[in-house]
Amino acid sequence: MGFDMKDNIVLIGFMGVGKTSLGKLLASKLGRPFVDLDEKIERDANMKIPEIFANHGEKYFRELESAAVREIASRRNIVIATGGGTVKDAENLRLLKECGFMVCLTTAPEEIFRRTERKGERPVLDGGGAERLETIKKLLAERQPFYSQADFEIDTTDWSPLQIVNEICDRFKLQR
Ligand code: S3P
Repeated sequence: MGFDMKDNIVLIGFMGVGKTSLGKLLASKLGRPFVDLDEKIERDANMKIPEIFANHGEKYFRELESAAVREIASRRNIVIATGGGTVKDAENLRLLKECGFMVCLTTAPEEIFRRTERKGERPVLDGGGAERLETIKKLLAERQPFYSQADFEIDTTDWSPLQIVNEICDRFKLQR
């Protein structure tokens, strides 16, 4: 696959698929720095994501997200966890693909529903009420064309975090 050790590893996928926790584990296994895009946005803005959405709207959040992508994409040899909507933007997708190998994590919609149940954390899903599962399925379908740009996809539904990390390492023939 031509993986270069200097390349970044970029985790993409829907909310609740485990990008942050698996990213941390993968980075520590590889001895690389880990960067979580959402955390960087929150740190730079000095606000939590729900606050950014509530006070400034989604458009502003997406601008902050793109600025964070531009900065992070210039780094090398790191593991990056993106937000669920990051790759909807063509320029974000292009920059992230250019700076590393892209892995899309997937999980069954019902499992995503369960994992994202806590209110107040994910503004895109909040307010869905009884239709939240339908919203998840609809957004998943809308985002599929972007997620499918990844170099490969791993379904995390039935695997342990360690199994998933090992699988990613194997696919890239990374040193563990
Ligand atoms: C979003 C996903 C979130 C965060 C923001 C928007 C989305 O990240 O970036 O709430 O549009 O899917 P996670 O995927 O880490 O929850």
